Amino acid sequence: MRCEVLIVDPEALDVSSIARAAAVLRAGRLVAFPTETVYGLGANALDPAAGARVFAAKGRPPGNPLIVHAPDVASARVLVADWPNAAQQLAERFWPGPLTLVLPRQPIVPDVVTAGGSTVAVRVPAHPVALALLRACGLPLAAPSANRSTRLSPTRAEHVLDGLADRIDLLLDAGPTSGGIESTVLDLTVQPPRLLRPGPVTVADLEAVVGRVTRLAPTDNDEPARSPGLHAKHYAPRTPLELVVGDGCLRVEELTRQGRRTAWVASEIRSATHATAVLVLMPDDPVAYAAQLYAILHQLDGQGLDRIVVELPPETEAWMAVHDRLRRAETVPPPAS
Ligand code: TXA
Ligand code: MG
Repeated sequence: MRCEVLIVDPEALDVSSIARAAAVLRAGRLVAFPTETVYGLGANALDPAAGARVFAAKGRPPGNPLIVHAPDVASARVLVADWPNAAQQLAERFWPGPLTLVLPRQPIVPDVVTAGGSTVAVRVPAHPVALALLRACGLPLAAPSANRSTRLSPTRAEHVLDGLADRIDLLLDAGPTSGGIESTVLDLTVQPPRLLRPGPVTVADLEAVVGRVTRLAPTDNDEPARSPGLHAKHYAPRTPLELVVGDGCLRVEELTRQGRRTAWVASEIRSATHATAVLVLMPDDPVAYAAQLYAILHQLDGQGLDRIVVELPPETEAWMAVHDRLRRAETVPPPAS
């Protein structure tokens, strides 16, 4: 099976395409759709068989729960057993938007979606196509990123097709997504709330609403099962990728001398090089950098290179989500010095 692709203009929604996708979802099948962060692989969140199809299509380990998407706060609240003040305040401030809240689940959410756990992750996405689809099908949609497990998340329809073309039923192609990296995941079942995955909504944004938030560094493996997406190497390109601190020029020249075709990804080119590397100049603003990151990595991955060298951005909190994704994408340990 090769999936059906329907092109939709997010500014002039074609009702018949949305209705067709909604019908596919109501039949328990899989539809990839755009959100403001990345493309999601959607399934009826209340249907265990549909949930199981998501895991099969992605090759996702059964222990990694799915995010459930709802069209509004009222529809999200139906899925959770508790709606604390913090949830209400965060929802008012950031929904629709790239913030996922982990809360105690209601029994109507099947085990396959929560990976058997007592909590469910919910969010209201801020993409007109996602919202139209959620409203049209009248169902909450379980939707992980629409990539094969451990691969980069898709920010364009082509990325979805690369990994899943013969494994899903339908794809709504609305062009590139704007956010570029996955939503912030915040656990509200603990006090203070705990950040499980940094994302577009920063710790400073969250703390301005709910006070102190515990940061869980991706290297902290105190409780990995809490958010399996925290496991390292979750979002990696196929091409070996290494991170360098500071000017990557010497490393790029060394690799090039070894005969390796290398890409050099940096926000600033500090020194000239004669190396025949593929040079990618990234924005020096974290939001703009995040918006491009996966698209650049997908593109470089398609060029048959031997190595991708990425200069690490500054260690400040504004760059936390980008750092997190770069650390997960790293597949080559830094050379011993
Ligand atoms: O931006 C996004 O969040 C995208 C779009 C499609 O909405 N979705 C996404 O889903 O990134 P996924 O499955 O690739 O990542 C979901 C993350 C994983 O790290 C998972 O472990 C965590 O959320 N998660 C889901 N349910 C959870 C729960 N009940 N408790 C703790 N972590 C949970
Ligand atoms: Mg994912």
